[in-house]
Amino acid sequence: MSGFFISFEGTEGGGKSTQIALLADRLRKQGQHVRLLREPGGTPIGEEIRHLLKHSEANRQMVPEAELLLMNASRAQLVREVIRPALAAGEIVLSDRFYDSTTAYQGYGRQLDLALVRSVIEFAVGPTHPHLTLLLNVSPEVSEARQRARQAASAGPRDRFEEADRHFFERVENGFLRIAKNEPQRVKLVDAAQNIDAVHEEVWRLVEVSMAASGRC
Ligand code: TMP
Repeated sequence: MSGFFISFEGTEGGGKSTQIALLADRLRKQGQHVRLLREPGGTPIGEEIRHLLKHSEANRQMVPEAELLLMNASRAQLVREVIRPALAAGEIVLSDRFYDSTTAYQGYGRQLDLALVRSVIEFAVGPTHPHLTLLLNVSPEVSEARQRARQAASAGPRDRFEEADRHFFERVENGFLRIAKNEPQRVKLVDAAQNIDAVHEEVWRLVEVSMAASGRC
């Protein structure tokens, strides 16, 4: 049986990690093989690229074009080293972000040419696309408040993305909403301002419907 690929998307503070963990638990309890991934990252090469992109002190001046290519270098590796083999083995792949983050952050956020961004993504992923994308949506105000709370709890330095200004995050949020509007079959909007259990139930319902429609279960 071929696998099923679900990506989780959204701006910071939408609770993606929590929801992915809850979904993975529930699927595993049903006896499914679940593979958890994150982007950028998910392979040894990808995790090094993640450090370059997010945390390396030397990279504060990274230009958007380099950012776009590094995100997609990590993705090209992840798709071939992990995602395709996992799907071929019938696993359910859950990825914390995938290519819609590039469209939203580098395209809408950094304002790179959208057609160019799309062609770089196509080169990186080839025919490998998520069957379902869950966009965990919160307003820029909620996102900012949750980021501040997380920052206060972690005590570590902010990463390069967390340092961007409010206008950047508004463009990113708007980008995600446009993606959802353009691809309503694949991308489902989830109101992530609700409590954790309510969000999880909505996620579960969308996953069940989508997997049933694709004949996965
Ligand atoms: P996160 O794993 O904490 O969400 O951090 C990843 C950061 O990288 C987040 O700020 C979004 C950003 N990002 C992009 O800008 N483009 C991309 O293609 C991906 C996958 C992530």
